Amino acid sequence: MPRTRRIEGYAIVSEDGMLANAAGIMPDSLKFAADRRFFESGLDGVDVVVHGRHSHERQQHSYLRRRLILTRQVPAVAADPSNEKALFWNPAGASFEQALAVLETPDGIVGVIGGTEVFGIFLDRYDVFHLSRAPDVRLPGGRPVFPEVPTRTPEQVLAIHGLDRGQRQVLDPAKGLAVVSWKRSSKFDR
Ligand SMILES: NC(=O)c1ccc[n+]([C@@H]2O[C@H](COP(=O)([O-])OP(=O)(O)OC[C@H]3O[C@@H](n4cnc5c(N)ncnc54)[C@H](OP(=O)(O)O)[C@@H]3O)[C@@H](O)[C@H]2O)c1
Repeated sequence: MPRTRRIEGYAIVSEDGMLANAAGIMPDSLKFAADRRFFESGLDGVDVVVHGRHSHERQQHSYLRRRLILTRQVPAVAADPSNEKALFWNPAGASFEQALAVLETPDGIVGVIGGTEVFGIFLDRYDVFHLSRAPDVRLPGGRPVFPEVPTRTPEQVLAIHGLDRGQRQVLDPAKGLAVVSWKRSSKFDR
């Protein structure tokens, strides 16, 4: 039975809204076991993972997942010779719907996992965005979670794009780590 498509975003960011440092690397200060478990169990529930060429999630179950890998090295959609469940996708040459159709997953749950540009592409389409915040970490000059950061905070960007602050889950009370799931308000059409 095909399900309606649902688009979920997952990110953990520093206090200044960065997902990686100035060198484009996700530092250990953004890595937490509790957030990794939250992220892994979320991705275990999706049908397709979508990410840029440098943002593979590298998890135990990654090999099971269908995925779209954004790259400008292909004109539109092309097979990934190293992974039969993956396609390379260039949004300049094929729509998201076209890419999903080639992947044979027109419906289902999509997990968008970054980086900056990829998160930005889906801002008007997320049903939910799970934003984890690493306390007491700042990454000046780093890679922002959305293109509009740091002009705006990640929360302001989500709100401008029609998402409402939702449930807050404390993932690690000792470390002050929490995730807020932002949900699309029904008054916004996509
Ligand atoms: N904290 C978090 O939650 C989080 C989330 C995601 C990533 N990260 C970290 O962020 C770093 C990676 O960042 P990144 O900026 O390099 O991101 P990335 O999106 O993974 O990789 C960038 C590459 O993806 C392709 N791409 C991106 N946007 C595209 C578009 N609109 N059209 C076509 N291709 C596109 C391009 O590949 P080509 O060069 O092949 O054209 C581009 O060079 C890593 O350290 C990763 O661990 C952290």
